[in-house]
Amino acid sequence: MTRKILILPGDGIGPEIVAEAVKVLDRLKADGLDIELEQGLVGGAAYDAMGHPLPEETLAQARAADAVLLGAVGGPRYEALERSLRPEQGLLGLRAGLGLFSNLRPAILYPQLADASTLKPEVVSGLDILIVRELTGGIYFGQPRGVRTLDNGEKEGFNTLVYRESEIERIGRSAFEIARKRGGRLCSVDKANVLEVTELWRQVMVRLAGEYPDVELSHMYVDNAAMQLVRAPRQFDVMVTTNMFGDILSDAAAMLTGSIGMLPSASLDAAGKGMYEPIHGSAPDIAGQGVANPLATLLSVAMMLRYSLDEPAAADRIEAAVGRVLDQGLRTPDIAAEGQPTVGTAEMGDAVVAAL
Ligand code: IPM
Ligand code: MG
Repeated sequence: MTRKILILPGDGIGPEIVAEAVKVLDRLKADGLDIELEQGLVGGAAYDAMGHPLPEETLAQARAADAVLLGAVGGPRYEALERSLRPEQGLLGLRAGLGLFSNLRPAILYPQLADASTLKPEVVSGLDILIVRELTGGIYFGQPRGVRTLDNGEKEGFNTLVYRESEIERIGRSAFEIARKRGGRLCSVDKANVLEVTELWRQVMVRLAGEYPDVELSHMYVDNAAMQLVRAPRQFDVMVTTNMFGDILSDAAAMLTGSIGMLPSASLDAAGKGMYEPIHGSAPDIAGQGVANPLATLLSVAMMLRYSLDEPAAADRIEAAVGRVLDQGLRTPDIAAEGQPTVGTAEMGDAVVAAL
């Protein structure tokens, strides 16, 4: 059966990096992978064309697709818009609208890039951690939220950090299932010493642990987790945490690997359907220059093949090809050592296609 993949380039460097992913997918298709690609609009690009960051059509396309590949959204041009029209709402709306509550963010250090990390090679070499971030709840979506004016005329901003037991339980199960297939260690990150909602989070994780005797569960406060990530990151196998903590910790984890330009992600619903995107943003500072690193997007395609399309061999091919171009010494500026020659986005993409 032909699988439909919706391609949403988005804004900034999104179209440039996604173009390289399309080259890779076209190549796999030519080699017999039964897929069909469709393009759609999201973020600022959708706002410009249709007046909304997540047009109904795009959500319908995403629902009808077997998997979605997204580039990035956002840019300075859109920052003055009313919040509901900003590009980020396109991304958040897709996550919520498709029920993509489980966000997997692997941070793997390619040995070839040990020198690209700002941390010492001996601290990061062999790094292989997976952050499981809750993606459709918590403070990102909690009500009430807003900015109100108090009686004395002063403004007050407020957001709500809220989790139901059922929401904690389903992300917990995701994480335990994954941990059991990896190193069998799960660290739940919370702020249970201060926030009631994350005390509940911890209780639910402890309860779930009874069902997964093969997984060793530990707990860490988020401040300590941030410190441990840069102090001794290899102590972690799988980490599970709330939406906002996961947003922050995954950026920190990205830098352990040398560049945020290397990190893919998968956002999955209860049935394993997913949206795949690099964890970096739209990088408006380098957009249009052809220098962005496409590897996080290509690795996101590999995750898509593995998690949503059940094509592990094709996923392996992409990951091996990425390893090979790194072996060949190809580097976009973000992963180049001082003085090392660099290649552009398209050159890197072409090299991966050739290595396939
Ligand atoms: C991410 C991004 C998004 C988030 C932004 C663009 C809304 O930072 O995917 O990590 O905060 O979730
Ligand atoms: Mg982020």
